[in-house]
Amino acid sequence: MSMRVLGIETSCDETAAAIVSDDRSILSNVVLSQLDDHRPFGGVVPEIAARAHLEHLDSIIARALDESGIALDALDGIAATGGPGLIGGVIVGVMTAKAIAAAHDLPFIAVNHLEAHALTARLTDDVAFPYLLLLISGGHCQLLIVEGVGRHTLLGTTMDDAIGEAFDKTAKLLGLGFPGGPAVETAARDGNPARFRLPRPLKGRTGCDFSFSGLKTAVRQAAIDLGHDPTTQDAADLAAGFQAAVADVIADRCRHALAEFSARHPGVPPVLVAAGGVAANQTLRTALTAVSTAQGASMVAPPPALCTDNAAMVAWAGIERLRAGSLDTLDFRPRPRWPLAELRAAE
Ligand code: KG4
Ligand code: ZN
Repeated sequence: MSMRVLGIETSCDETAAAIVSDDRSILSNVVLSQLDDHRPFGGVVPEIAARAHLEHLDSIIARALDESGIALDALDGIAATGGPGLIGGVIVGVMTAKAIAAAHDLPFIAVNHLEAHALTARLTDDVAFPYLLLLISGGHCQLLIVEGVGRHTLLGTTMDDAIGEAFDKTAKLLGLGFPGGPAVETAARDGNPARFRLPRPLKGRTGCDFSFSGLKTAVRQAAIDLGHDPTTQDAADLAAGFQAAVADVIADRCRHALAEFSARHPGVPPVLVAAGGVAANQTLRTALTAVSTAQGASMVAPPPALCTDNAAMVAWAGIERLRAGSLDTLDFRPRPRWPLAELRAAE
């Protein structure tokens, strides 16, 4: 009999529920984006997000169950993002999951959102441990080795902005709208990446850390130096230049990380997995594929819809935890901060 888990994701501005089976099939995956609620404010407003999760979560779960054709009683566990994230939303998801688990006498699993991103490549591509992970999202930019469920070694992280933050701030600066990542990517398609000379922070340095604030400042300065408000073409050229610089830096850092991976795990065929919302970016995916090929590694990036926030990844992480016998109790407290380093290893 296969194992099936309901996943719930409410840590940012997506209200999502999904049913996933341990044979790696996604039986349903419902995502309600709150983008329109937040757009007038140019960013995610935590209070609005929490209220929207509360209003919609029950019906999103009902839809996920309906589309999967599976009754609550036939499930093997309820997994919800337990953090890190906007605490109001996390509370809504965790409370709902606990209530369903208690009412139907099912195991409850509090999933770390970052681990959910990290394990997605095992759902989509059955990647074996250990692998190298580039986690690039709104709040994170890290390179780590994933050795098992709850077992990671951090190789590098950002010294200032998270990469998604850099995309979002650049978009705001260029008047490209919200959310910034997709807006920069779209604008860059019509741009000339070579028109502005932008820096490549930390490129060529040893180690696997990142820095983006100098690049962001350089984009701002280039826009000021124009002497007028950026035209559509100026914004496209700056977006393309920014994206090319980010791709260069990411490729350089991953080259170092792949070397470090092979030094620590000799004989293991290296796999570079990209995860998190920014991994939806096509230019970055192309750069990562190129650096992986050059280093004799394979590159795995889940489809964009499973890179950005979704509940299928939460359900899958729940399955991995359930299989490893790593459950939570109903007194689990939602965590606004929950670094991967503080995650419990599964037995
Ligand atoms: O993983 P995610 O959905 O939420 C977090 O857990 O942070 O990532 C959201 C981030 C945002 O900063 C968004 O602008 C960025 O991912 N993003 C992108 C793209 N799609 C989403 N950045 C660059 N290119 C994209 N296509
Ligand atoms: Zn995320």
